[in-house]
Amino acid sequence: MEKNQEIIDNLIIAYWMEMETVINYISNSINLDGVRAEEIKKSLAVDILEEINHAQSLAKRIKEIGGLVPGSFDFSPSQNLLQPKDDTTDVVSVIEGVIEAENGAILHYNKIIKLCDGTDYVTQDLCIKLLGMEETHRIEFVGFLKEYKK
Ligand SMILES: [Fe+2]
Ligand SMILES: [Fe+2]
Repeated sequence: MEKNQEIIDNLIIAYWMEMETVINYISNSINLDGVRAEEIKKSLAVDILEEINHAQSLAKRIKEIGGLVPGSFDFSPSQNLLQPKDDTTDVVSVIEGVIEAENGAILHYNKIIKLCDGTDYVTQDLCIKLLGMEETHRIEFVGFLKEYKK
């Protein structure tokens, strides 16, 4: 039972990470300016829909295993690098912020996958799928960074 609560608590953390990602990917996909920003904006716009989907899947699983999906009063933000900049052509800092957010998600899904081992295979399966998608997001932006930092 204690393990179940630990899994719920970690799913809620993952849920908030996805929600914060949605907020900041929306703002950055709109705020950025310039020719160099176009591909980044397009890619973020696609990822937003996937991250919303992740949040919904996590919320559904939280409910299924006996938890309660939190409301906005419980939210505390942490994504420093993705806050709006005065320089709206600073694409590199946004790419770095995205990589940091994706790394955070990857780390956290790995944690839940290990936590679920031997107790909750459905949550484990969900987090393995989400992990795969975050790794896809990350490698795309790692590729962008190579080009933009030349
Ligand atoms: Fe996600
Ligand atoms: Fe992602």
